[in-house]
Amino acid sequence: MALRYLLRPVPSEKRLSLVREDHSLPEPGPGEVRVRVRACSLNYRDLLMRRGQSASSASGDVVPLSDGAGEIDAVGEGVTLWKTGDRVTGGFFAEWKDGPFDMRYHKAARGGSCDGMLAEFVVASAESFVATPSYLTDAEAACLPCACLTAWHSLVERGNLAAGQTVLALGTGGVSVFALQLATAAGARVIITSSSDEKLARAKELGAWETVNYRETEAWDGRVWSLTEKRGVDHVIEVGGPGTLGKSMNAVAAGGHIGLIGVLTGFAPPDVSLFPIVTKNVDLHGIYVGSLAMFVRMNAFLETHQIRPVIDRTFSLEDAPEAYDHLAGGNHFGKIVIEC
Ligand SMILES: NC(=O)c1ccc[n+]([C@@H]2O[C@H](COP(=O)([O-])OP(=O)(O)OC[C@H]3O[C@@H](n4cnc5c(N)ncnc54)[C@H](OP(=O)(O)O)[C@@H]3O)[C@@H](O)[C@H]2O)c1
Repeated sequence: MALRYLLRPVPSEKRLSLVREDHSLPEPGPGEVRVRVRACSLNYRDLLMRRGQSASSASGDVVPLSDGAGEIDAVGEGVTLWKTGDRVTGGFFAEWKDGPFDMRYHKAARGGSCDGMLAEFVVASAESFVATPSYLTDAEAACLPCACLTAWHSLVERGNLAAGQTVLALGTGGVSVFALQLATAAGARVIITSSSDEKLARAKELGAWETVNYRETEAWDGRVWSLTEKRGVDHVIEVGGPGTLGKSMNAVAAGGHIGLIGVLTGFAPPDVSLFPIVTKNVDLHGIYVGSLAMFVRMNAFLETHQIRPVIDRTFSLEDAPEAYDHLAGGNHFGKIVIEC
């Protein structure tokens, strides 16, 4: 028997409940592997999923969490990609191998439309995993599939980030701290915002060029504008959504790039004119995590620069509900991990 969690729809309610259960050890079928999961990490998406606010929520029971890492425990018929003991990390989209996004990939978004990683053992397609960089622990690798790949996709794959450019990252959650680490390693200058001076001090230690407390400085867009000598930033990691997009458009440089990523301020339409996108010739890209090929390229970059994910706190598998509560509290800096 093995332990796993399920997100289970609550009858006549929108939210789902997190249920713990013992189940029989799953066997891998042809083309599949069984992975002994050693660690998972949480993303804001997992809160949306539990609240029933995500478009990719399954209608029945689903194993939650997109992000997990461990080792190959058994291989199914025909699998040559991995052998028992290999260290692997799951991709967010189990079927988005390479090339442009296709709507059919939505049906295999781990921890949403298909089973995720919050379990001692998972069985899935052998091709839906990537090799874990040898210098990282499983807990560190488990932080990468969603938050880090999203930041990488936005900055590098779509944004063509170059040394000397400026990047604006909003808040100090998972995506933004990875954006800070990736951009700094690439030789860019990062301005990061936070509601907490203590977190901004930590961001400085990680290499932030400038910091802005968005709670104290409501006009943080104006502050970014003056910090960049009225030029604006080359890239914005837009994780806020409708409540921050207007200011992000004010803060971006002419010809700059906004990666539209998050919904921290909700799903309502933005109450601002989108016209600055036109007058500044801005590239506005919708970013939805990334492909397995991007994940492999990102891991090579991480290894070259020996970047280690910032883990805020680690919980045991038994304490998974507390890990959700810690994320919901918003006091974290970087990533929250569950060891399995
Ligand atoms: N499109 C995609 O593929 C994709 C992938 C990953 C995440 N996302 C989205 O991106 C967002 C961030 O995800 P995450 O997992 O990194 O979240 P997270 O780790 O939970 O980060 C939350 C942090 O965001 C900051 N924040 C909250 N409200 C803010 C606001 N109004 N302005 C600026 N910062 C604010 C806070 O930082 P401080 O405490 O420092 O103030 C908070 O601690 C979420 O909406 C998530 O759904 C999208």
